[in-house]
Amino acid sequence: MQLKNDLLIRAARGEAVERTPVWLMRQAGRILPEYRAVRNSLSGFKELVETPDLAAEVTIQPVDILDVDAAIIFSDILVVPEAMGCTYEMVEKRGPLFPKTIRTEEDLKRLRVADPHEHLHYVLDAIKVTKRALNGRVPLIGFAGAPWTILAYMVEGSGSKTFSHARGMLYTNPKLAHQLLRMITDTTIAYLQAQVEAGANLIQVFDSWAGILSPAHYREFSLPYISEICNAIRNVPVTVFAKGAFFALEDFSKLNCETIGLDWNMDIKTSRVQVGPNKTLQGNMDPCLLYSSFDTIQHETIKMLKEFGPQRHIANLGHGVYPDTDPEKVKCFVQTVKEYGSLALGNG
Ligand code: CP3
Repeated sequence: MQLKNDLLIRAARGEAVERTPVWLMRQAGRILPEYRAVRNSLSGFKELVETPDLAAEVTIQPVDILDVDAAIIFSDILVVPEAMGCTYEMVEKRGPLFPKTIRTEEDLKRLRVADPHEHLHYVLDAIKVTKRALNGRVPLIGFAGAPWTILAYMVEGSGSKTFSHARGMLYTNPKLAHQLLRMITDTTIAYLQAQVEAGANLIQVFDSWAGILSPAHYREFSLPYISEICNAIRNVPVTVFAKGAFFALEDFSKLNCETIGLDWNMDIKTSRVQVGPNKTLQGNMDPCLLYSSFDTIQHETIKMLKEFGPQRHIANLGHGVYPDTDPEKVKCFVQTVKEYGSLALGNG
């Protein structure tokens, strides 16, 4: 299927674009009343994730409503630990909870390297349904968590400010940490390859908890596994988004991937120097900008676009859009990117 709008893919590959493509992390979700309506008619988040027709419906909502240049499959990074045998609950207003954590060799024995076709078929089905319904309008992004971030949830058992159990394991039992990371990486590679086979046009790896590791621990416990994933996904572009990992930007320049995501703590010019000229950068507006006036949103968005320059950039926020953001403000961000591009072209 030929894509009608392939700006995201061309920008990722470093090919010339008429304007900067734009999408938002967490665009499919609670900011949209249309999402909340579907979600509230169900038993909970997991039912939505596990029902392909409904997951496809909420995946496409932001394309229809916000006019973004890409869809991202509605799912969660936590489906991977679940497929491996570590089930999660999504607790209303509190977030994920793993009733049984992985902290000992005995715990590890409960886990398996998952087969995506057997244990994650509902995501693959959702991708197929979404692709059919999108009919080539925009690319579909598939995703997974980076192995370190998945380990952090499996060991900690929930979200945390410090992830002290997970970080502690890197000192107290590094061997066990590597064994767990090995299983997560093998599962993730098979899962992402299956997403590409099912129709994902680009893959993003979320290392949401990169920023809590020391540079040395990041290089030992996260980077090598991300690198393996990048090497294994070669027929579609790959984006690595490691929140808070400003200390690793030079390492990222050596990864076998097309795009590096930046969060809003990262200076655009400095990041470009560190990542080098051969990768696309994605980001990096502070999600809080979208609480401000339409004028301020336009002004700051244009400032960001000028700093990144017209090529090798994918406009996005520096992390997921916050659930209490007014969708009209998101539309303003998206339209500003689109109109700025056309203006720049018009002015030659
Ligand atoms: O639009 C999209 O981005 C696609 C869907 C998506 C979700 N989660 C849906 C979701 C994606 C890409 C994710 C990734 C994800 N999930 C990450 C990495 C990105 C990041 O934010 O750093 C992480 C760390 C998770 C784990 C997770 N899932 C947490 C901590 C929570 C609770 C906090 C929160 O944001 O609500 C979730 C729940 C979740 N995942 C929701 C959605 C729409 C909200 C649940 C609901 O609708 O009730």
